Amino acid sequence: MDVAAPGLATAAGRAPRRADPCAFVIFGAAGDLTKRLLLPALYNLAAGGLLSDAFAIVGVARVDGSDDEFRRRMRAALQEFATDRIRPETLGDLIGRCHYVRGDFDDASTYGRLRDRLAEITRTRNKRDNCLFYLATPPDLFAPVARLLGEAGLANETSGCWRRLIVEKPFGFDLKSACALNKELLRFFSESQIYRIDHYLGKETVQNIMVLRFANGMFEPIWNRHHIDHVQITVAETVSVENRGKLYDHTGALRDMVPNHLFQLLALTAMEPPSCFEADAVRAEKLKAIEALRPPTKDKVFADVVRGQYVAGRVNDKAAPAYRDAPGVAPHSVTETYVAMRLMIDNWRWAGVPFYLRTGKALAARKTEIAIKFRSAPLALFRDMPVDSLGQNLLVLRIQPDEGAALHFNAKIPGPEIRIENVRMNFKYEDYFDAAPSTGYETLIYDCMIGDPMLFQRAINIEAGWRVVDPILQAWRETDGRDLRLYEAGSDGPQAVERLLVRSEQQWRPIA
Ligand code: BG6
Repeated sequence: MDVAAPGLATAAGRAPRRADPCAFVIFGAAGDLTKRLLLPALYNLAAGGLLSDAFAIVGVARVDGSDDEFRRRMRAALQEFATDRIRPETLGDLIGRCHYVRGDFDDASTYGRLRDRLAEITRTRNKRDNCLFYLATPPDLFAPVARLLGEAGLANETSGCWRRLIVEKPFGFDLKSACALNKELLRFFSESQIYRIDHYLGKETVQNIMVLRFANGMFEPIWNRHHIDHVQITVAETVSVENRGKLYDHTGALRDMVPNHLFQLLALTAMEPPSCFEADAVRAEKLKAIEALRPPTKDKVFADVVRGQYVAGRVNDKAAPAYRDAPGVAPHSVTETYVAMRLMIDNWRWAGVPFYLRTGKALAARKTEIAIKFRSAPLALFRDMPVDSLGQNLLVLRIQPDEGAALHFNAKIPGPEIRIENVRMNFKYEDYFDAAPSTGYETLIYDCMIGDPMLFQRAINIEAGWRVVDPILQAWRETDGRDLRLYEAGSDGPQAVERLLVRSEQQWRPIA
């Protein structure tokens, strides 16, 4: 019997159906993403009985190798990175489905060989010609690979088969490059064939935001500017740039995290209820939320945005060197490893409610959360009692690592006089659900194989995100980094973020 793979929700105990037969073609099959995430996720889907009997993996990479060598590498990768205990029969079956095509990604002959290989797999195994092309390559190869696939006829959905393209992050470097990439991909694949990934949407806790908001009657009536004072979205990491310095120094925290991961969290928090739980309806509402963000004007960027960079400190009790000392980073780099901003959403629901966003590396703790701060009760009622100030009413959605949600409210301390303390009702996923560990990619890959694009980004959604951050990038380009604030590794980030808060009673939540 089919059982759900880790990371795949089932409706009322019903197991999801098996995915369509297909060849899963990985460009960049020799890379880290394949080893650490894609193969373990495919293994979990196989173990959950969710892959078709006619499923095949085709690795494409530059390194020399045969099917056998590729199988050996994939077996070793699974033994190292599987999220759970490996069942030898599932492993053997999955590895037996692996094939290898060697070739340069910018060489048309690679695609000819790939086409022949896919035809052979269809003949001998798959019966159907469905193909999912996963671009696990450096971003400068996304467009050339899509073009060469198109020119080789591999994007054609003839005779009822489907051809889909999964594009990894980063999608563009700014608005202009993202639009150019969309344009290029759309020359060869139609929008419905393109699945732009944001791995945050693979997280259960992120998918739960819509369920929390729209499967419960009690939140919607208070989910607006009449009751909400502000929203704080935090994605804090303890990791530093480690060995990604060269790449990261050209990217920075803003591009790396904001138009994608943080805007996904913001859109899910701020969107209007969609008319139905279908991809187009949901993505249209998310788009409206991002489009309603007021892009900071050039002269307001320095008032609304703070950028920071870590200097040496201690993270998790270990010495952490400064960003500028990381391999590959320019010695006088002004690349930000931290960014915080205040954004306003110009619509009726959110007018006047600041959304505070912050993300950074080498911070005091790893924590992703969305904190909804409700308006305070008037203090007047308790003015003659020993109550200095009332604690905050907060709903905190903990995305990771301590997955759950908490409601903070005030309660009477038992005793003869009225004394009040802020208490918290705490929900933890692990107390209710028995989810096996997963990579976070299972749902995304499975959804692509069944043709459900809800958790993927459309061209227009990606461009809307870049449109908001582009003025910030432009303003930063025009200064020499004078506004860059240094913060100690292992701290909560630069002090300067205090100035983003618009009301004196607002405060940033501690990171650790
Ligand atoms: C990636 C960024 O997209 O997300 C990384 O490029 C970042 O810099 C990572 O560390 C964070 O993902 P997660 O799932 O660990 O929060």
